[in-house]
Amino acid sequence: MTVLDFQAKKQKGQKISMITCYDYTFAKILNETDIDVLLVGDSLAMVMHGYPTTLNASTEMMALHTAAVVKGASKKFVIGDLPFMGYRKSLSENMTCIEQIMKAGAQAVKLEGAAGNLETVRHAVDSGVPVMGHLGLTPQSIHQLGGFKVQGRDEKAHKAIMQQALQLQEAGCFSVVLECVPADLAKEITTELEIPTIGIGGGVNCDGQVLVLQDMLGMNQDFTPKFLRKYFNGAEELKKAFNKYHSDVIHKEFPNEKESY
Ligand code: KIV
Repeated sequence: MTVLDFQAKKQKGQKISMITCYDYTFAKILNETDIDVLLVGDSLAMVMHGYPTTLNASTEMMALHTAAVVKGASKKFVIGDLPFMGYRKSLSENMTCIEQIMKAGAQAVKLEGAAGNLETVRHAVDSGVPVMGHLGLTPQSIHQLGGFKVQGRDEKAHKAIMQQALQLQEAGCFSVVLECVPADLAKEITTELEIPTIGIGGGVNCDGQVLVLQDMLGMNQDFTPKFLRKYFNGAEELKKAFNKYHSDVIHKEFPNEKESY
């Protein structure tokens, strides 16, 4: 998978699968799967570091996790998220943030929103950096959006998101994530744009889908948004394994002779 395959897949009507990844061990496993793209999402602030929102992700954190993922996933296209405020300063500071993520080994970066970002997108693209956009529910604006809510429901918001998608395409983005938008809006944007859309809570008509790895593995039992399909009962299965180990230790069933020197 290269950046050119995004366009090629859209033209051929082939869907793109993307999943978040934040560490070397999962990257190595994902490297041996059919998944097309790995996203080192700023959701790592919540999933890996326990913060309540993505606002606490820093450039250093993003670069560190990107480097770990890239080491394990040599065969995958890896996208690094630009963190909150990392691309909202001067063009020079924005480019320093992008430089750090790219030098950590990402093949592309992702940023949220269109307003105020178009110059940075153009400059990054002109500098050889593929940029993915992200519209709809943009978690870095959570305090302005008033919570994790579906976006683009009314006519005005619907038109605004469509226009932002066109602006990002025009500025040079190679793809755009559509998060928590009505399926009919995602379908309209997907039809209108030449570049592929990647949905998370955007319905089946997007050109691809993305899920947070820990969410789709069922690691967080309390997180059950409508769009999420859990492919594994991770929390339960892992707890079973940990408890079995505990039981083996206290009953002197681990280690056995074969496991001893
Ligand atoms: O940070 C992230 O994980 C993301 C995806 C949910 C698209 O941006």
